[in-house]
Amino acid sequence: MQLHYPNKKTEQEIFDQIPNITLEQINNSDSPNLLIQANNLVALKQLITQHNLAGKIDLIYIDPPFATNNIFTITEGRASAISNSKNGNVAYSDTLKGFDFLEFIRERLVLLKMLLSNKGSIYLHIDYKIGHYVKIVMDEIFGMENFRNDITRVKCNPKNFARKGYGNVKDLILFYSKSDNLIWNEPKTPYTEEDKIKLFPKTEKDGRRYTTIPLHAPGETQNGKTSQPFKGIFPPKGRHWRSDVSILEQWNNEGLIEWSNNGNPRKKIYFDEQEGKRMQDIWEFKDPQYPVYPTEKNADLLDIIIKTSSNGNSIVLDCFAGSGTTLKSAQTNGRQWIGIDQSEEAIKTIITKLDRVEQDLFIDKSEYKYLTENRQGIQHEAVWKEWQEETA
Ligand SMILES: C[S@@+](CC[C@H](N)C(=O)[O-])C[C@H]1O[C@@H](n2cnc3c(N)ncnc32)[C@H](O)[C@@H]1O
Repeated sequence: MQLHYPNKKTEQEIFDQIPNITLEQINNSDSPNLLIQANNLVALKQLITQHNLAGKIDLIYIDPPFATNNIFTITEGRASAISNSKNGNVAYSDTLKGFDFLEFIRERLVLLKMLLSNKGSIYLHIDYKIGHYVKIVMDEIFGMENFRNDITRVKCNPKNFARKGYGNVKDLILFYSKSDNLIWNEPKTPYTEEDKIKLFPKTEKDGRRYTTIPLHAPGETQNGKTSQPFKGIFPPKGRHWRSDVSILEQWNNEGLIEWSNNGNPRKKIYFDEQEGKRMQDIWEFKDPQYPVYPTEKNADLLDIIIKTSSNGNSIVLDCFAGSGTTLKSAQTNGRQWIGIDQSEEAIKTIITKLDRVEQDLFIDKSEYKYLTENRQGIQHEAVWKEWQEETA
């Protein structure tokens, strides 16, 4: 599946055309975590060429601009969720459109794929207006066979704008893995009271809630021991017992099998022994009501992604780091992290946010290793664009 548009570069051209800008090292620590203020294309190339990180990143979460044609600002320490206002400090601009926007995203994705480990995953947060085009770009780069989910994220309460169309309360997160062998720590969501009553309708004398499931499963036999008679009963045709008959005997002695009036045995499953239910692909994680940075994302959302798709020894990368939601969650969950953002306001916000973690978790402030010479986020983007035009 491929998307064709004018001036689409080859992957080799993308890599070769990225300039090698020297990043100034502000402090030097033993911490493996990196915070980089730079255009992420430059920084990603350096992670590959200078830090030898190709194939070593287990988890990438990115929340890039969404082609909204907005300038996002922070006024008196408060972020406007969306603002066209000329007041306040510019956090970042989101003014690329159409093919330019898609190529901007594609350039980063090409490098991000190089950085991703074989058991790695990438989650890309985007909105419903441009997201379906980005899906095709991601299919092209990561392969349709590695597409895992299009997660619907419910982001806000219902809206009552007088617009002809349904209210938009969701955005989407496109989730791909590098291979079939991805890190996957099954996430569970707690049962609600309603689930408890509906899914575990039976109660023991002591009030313990449970349900029952068939004692047999599809398939002729797995081994001889699961096709033997249990209390004189054979599994139905084309099925086998879930466990060896000796285990079924044990369950029966422990009162874990319920016999129906017509002599059909079923296994009891207790509510209080379940971790929760399987997580589905509609997630309700509303963003902070008073964001410290424009379009700051919900921290619980990042916690789920990080716990599910990375391990304790994983490196987590966010190259559109914003306020550092991903970095803080990685830090809190004991993961190594790399954060990149070109905006001065973003870097300031990240340092504040991680300072708060420092108080809780005693992290070393010397983790903030790299800052570029150019500390004018928005200006940096303009300089970069100029450079691209000059070299085109
Ligand atoms: C939507 S915000 C990310 C918000 C973040 N997820 C959070 O929870 O706070 C996008 C960020 O990408 C940054 N950005 C945009 N283009 C960039 C580029 N070329 N290089 C580095 N950062 C960039 C912006 O400065 C902005 O902070």
